[in-house]
Amino acid sequence: MLDSRTIDHMIQETKDYVIKWRRHFHQNPELSFHETKTSQFIYDTLESFGNLELTRPTKTSVMARLIGSEPGKIIALRADMDALPIQEENKFEYASKNPGVMHACGHDGHAAILLGVAKIFSVLRNYINGEVRFLFQHAEELFPGGAEEMVEAGVMDNVDQIIGLHLWSPLEVGKIGVTYGPMLAAPDTFSISVIGKGGHAAYPQQTIDSVTIGAQVVNNLQHIVAKNTDSLEPLVVSVTRFIADSSHNITPGTVEISGTVRSFNPGLRESVPIIMERIIKGITEAHGASYEFRYLRGYRPVINDDKVTLVIEETVREIFGDDAVQLIKPSMGGDDFSAYLQKAPGAYVFVGAGNTDKGIVYPHHHPCFNIDENALQIGVKLLIYSTIKLLNK
Ligand code: NI
Repeated sequence: MLDSRTIDHMIQETKDYVIKWRRHFHQNPELSFHETKTSQFIYDTLESFGNLELTRPTKTSVMARLIGSEPGKIIALRADMDALPIQEENKFEYASKNPGVMHACGHDGHAAILLGVAKIFSVLRNYINGEVRFLFQHAEELFPGGAEEMVEAGVMDNVDQIIGLHLWSPLEVGKIGVTYGPMLAAPDTFSISVIGKGGHAAYPQQTIDSVTIGAQVVNNLQHIVAKNTDSLEPLVVSVTRFIADSSHNITPGTVEISGTVRSFNPGLRESVPIIMERIIKGITEAHGASYEFRYLRGYRPVINDDKVTLVIEETVREIFGDDAVQLIKPSMGGDDFSAYLQKAPGAYVFVGAGNTDKGIVYPHHHPCFNIDENALQIGVKLLIYSTIKLLNK
């Protein structure tokens, strides 16, 4: 039988490796779908542990399977590993060596944590009934995302339950953010071309002014959240880009508008592009302009399973104490972890990684983003104990 003293000792022994791996990934970040060296490092490190069956579901992802001595449940654990197109401004010695590329979301930590968990489980094989499946996923940051591809490659076949975690700097280290049900929204994107008629800005009667018409489109899109949909259903419609490239005396023929839509409710999600197009069509027609409208559905929303979430919450209370549990509200961010949840119930959880006293306060995707590395060991411990609990349930 496995006793927690032994496991805690192993977690302690793995601590420095996990920090070392995280710093290695941090220093050598790679963009989504280009995680060649990162995935090779993960593959080689996993191979050195022994007892794991390794495969490459896609070019830059890795799957490791620890098949226990007796049959039982299959529990999958997922870590993403891609970085972002950001120039790092941190000055520590393991700052990014790749100009314009940075681990500014903590995925370096996710990959390191899951390596640590795999290292520990690889020596516990004789104590495991069932299987622990480690999914090192590429391209979380860039639609269409790596998760969908991995699911298509069969990584979720026969999986009973899945857990994923995200290091989270808005949450202080030591806290674990648990959410029942809806957790992360569906992130859709759109782009609109308002097509008018360019010309001399001194003679507006000869032009169809795409700038003023575009501005009205932007303003009227705000009616969708304010006036056209149920106030009790979360929805964001944000215009983030408005390009009217011209000169002070030339009215541009077109403006380009784009942005994002975030929602949870599937019916609401379906209705938003229809309302958007009605507004765009009405306004452009009223002023003699025309339009092109493109709407791209992103990841599905992340909806956590109550039973798996409860197991995580119980685990947190048992190993970190009641104070560590932070029940948190859904967020309008998105994550392709939802692709796995189409195949098996699971839960996504936030592991606190901020530390105000140490100045680790920057938000995700910021050039000064960092994590408190004590969060790494907490992540390892959480995944180990939650997995054992799920295997035994
Ligand atoms: Ni992330």
